[in-house]
Amino acid sequence: MAPQPFEKPIHVTKPFLPPIEEFVGGLEEIWDNHWLTNDGPILRRFERRLSNYFETENICLFNNGTLALQIGLQGMGISGEVITTPFTFVATTHALFWNKIRPVFVDIEPDYYTLDPDAVEAAITPWTTAILAVHVYGFPCRVDALADIARRQNLALIYDAAHAFGVNISGRPICHFGDLSMFSFHATKLFHSSEGGMLTFRDSGLKSTFDYLKNFGFKGEVEVVMPGTNAKMNEMQALMGILVLGHMKALIDRSRLIDSTYREWLKDVPGIKFPPPLSDSIYYNSAYQPVEIDAVEFGIGRDELYEALKEFNIFARRYFYPLLCDYSCYRSVEVRDPLKTARGVAQRILCLPTYPDLAITDVQRICETIAWIQKSCRDKVNIPEDKALHRHAQISSLIQ
Ligand SMILES: Cc1ncc(COP(=O)(O)O)c(C=O)c1O
Repeated sequence: MAPQPFEKPIHVTKPFLPPIEEFVGGLEEIWDNHWLTNDGPILRRFERRLSNYFETENICLFNNGTLALQIGLQGMGISGEVITTPFTFVATTHALFWNKIRPVFVDIEPDYYTLDPDAVEAAITPWTTAILAVHVYGFPCRVDALADIARRQNLALIYDAAHAFGVNISGRPICHFGDLSMFSFHATKLFHSSEGGMLTFRDSGLKSTFDYLKNFGFKGEVEVVMPGTNAKMNEMQALMGILVLGHMKALIDRSRLIDSTYREWLKDVPGIKFPPPLSDSIYYNSAYQPVEIDAVEFGIGRDELYEALKEFNIFARRYFYPLLCDYSCYRSVEVRDPLKTARGVAQRILCLPTYPDLAITDVQRICETIAWIQKSCRDKVNIPEDKALHRHAQISSLIQ
């Protein structure tokens, strides 16, 4: 018998909210202070807490991660060509474009979907100034190999660490690798401040530049020293961030439990591939739950599984499909690398729901639903993939 659909939709993510009394207590402080934005006392407290958490003084907070990255590139004076990944959220490349930098898309590695250092090296030209790599899903890039290339070729090494809050390598917070890292505190992230972003950086001299750039370029009351923008984090965001930070250890533990449940309950389902277990030296945040669907072994393809799950009120997401270079906005960018791995992964990848209040019994139910779809569809779907509509109708009839 077909599993029952969930009564309420299960989305790929759902923001963690701290107990409301904690937030109300903080709002009272904001009301007393009558200070809503512009380097307020709660923002400063948040900055100090993050400084402790990340073991660095070199941090700067922003109203979102996109502007943080944009300002990071601007403040470091990056120009020309930057080698980057097509397998990420579109903001990574947008930040380059807003700085009039040409993205050079190169391939990713098959296990953890991060930039392939060999592909990076092969793409360097006299115009290359930096590498912009992404710790996608929080999986650390090959930081040593990339650092080695950056050092030998005299390139800046910048990380989009939007997904990597809380990740450590050999006990060191991930922001200690590279010249600059950007973290997103968007509500869809495991750690969030509703909206928000952060830069961490090696060169402490950059702090004042970033502070000017996020506040219109103001230096004091009557001097504007650079063409900045408005990218300041406000007091409510900082308050949410402080409160969520207090729960971070529990949030990561919970995500790890969800991950191990998915792995255990899906281990016998053919055609589902999980990223391999990480080395013991990496403390991972399990912020996302990516799996690859092999259409031949599973019986139907990723897109059909994605659609079939919706019938059960389960809303997985195809992060990151399409590749950025395939969006109409970036189709005119010349791509020399065949992107063989990235193209394959983008066709197979599916992110399953994971968020702190997803009950373990619901994770098990999602797995049972996937297993049931696999069993019902395998060998029974005989319409070729290019007849998508008929195929979809046939799958729908099987699962109803
Ligand atoms: C990889 C990546 N980079 C950049 C961003 C942009 O961050 P924000 O939404 O905070 O602007 C996001 C997420 O939203 C992301 O997933």
